[in-house]
Amino acid sequence: MQLLGVDIGGSGIKGAIVDTQTGELVTERLRIKTPSPATPEAVAQTLKELYTQIGYQGPVACGFPARVMKGVVQTAANIDKSWINTEVEKLFSETLGQQVFVANDADVAGFAEMAVGAGRDYQKGQVIFLTIGTGIGSAIFLDGALYPNSELGHVIFKGDSAERYCSDSAREKNDLKWSEWGKRFNEYLCHIDFLLKPDLFILGGGASKKFEKYKDALTVDTKVIPAQTLNFAGIIGAAMYGESCLKQLEFK
Ligand code: BGC
Repeated sequence: MQLLGVDIGGSGIKGAIVDTQTGELVTERLRIKTPSPATPEAVAQTLKELYTQIGYQGPVACGFPARVMKGVVQTAANIDKSWINTEVEKLFSETLGQQVFVANDADVAGFAEMAVGAGRDYQKGQVIFLTIGTGIGSAIFLDGALYPNSELGHVIFKGDSAERYCSDSAREKNDLKWSEWGKRFNEYLCHIDFLLKPDLFILGGGASKKFEKYKDALTVDTKVIPAQTLNFAGIIGAAMYGESCLKQLEFK
């Protein structure tokens, strides 16, 4: 199936039509700057602009940087607070005049990594995917199946949400060298490792591209590998999620 996958982020809204079988992008990735302030209405209009520019007609699926349950946004750690309780699927579907599915950005990116990226050979056991950007998002897999809506970036660590200590934005804000940031991130990984003891960690998001610069700081006693789908995981995973939603509707 071909479906428009969209990754809604704090700085950019990125989308492409994806072949959900292979995970390949059928069109070039289009990126539009996230509006500021990124209120629900403004983001919906930007999504419409992207949809129109791509010249696509059909169902759409989005990864969104918050917890989304039954189409409603529940948290707003790194997004405009007015998102809380917004019926995001309804808002986007009405704005586009098309069915739009929305799920957590880390869950869908992790889904793509497990299907066509670094996790494809790890369909047995426990895998934790962490996406490191403005915040830290998480997706937990057991034997390839997703345990949805986890928020491991908000584990309290050093007195605050862990993402404030070791997200990519914390690295920038504190002007840390990659090796210094790596030490911080390693402390956090050791904590998550102790709590959940996975067989594998996969690191995604912006920081995954710099893995070589901090990998020596990672002493955690569990294998850690960088994601392979890099910038595209959110788009590919969203499209795959959209396909699974459409299939569920068919069976209802
Ligand atoms: C949010 C998560 C999101 C992550 C990455 C966190 O602050 O709470 O829902 O997945 O950032 O965007």
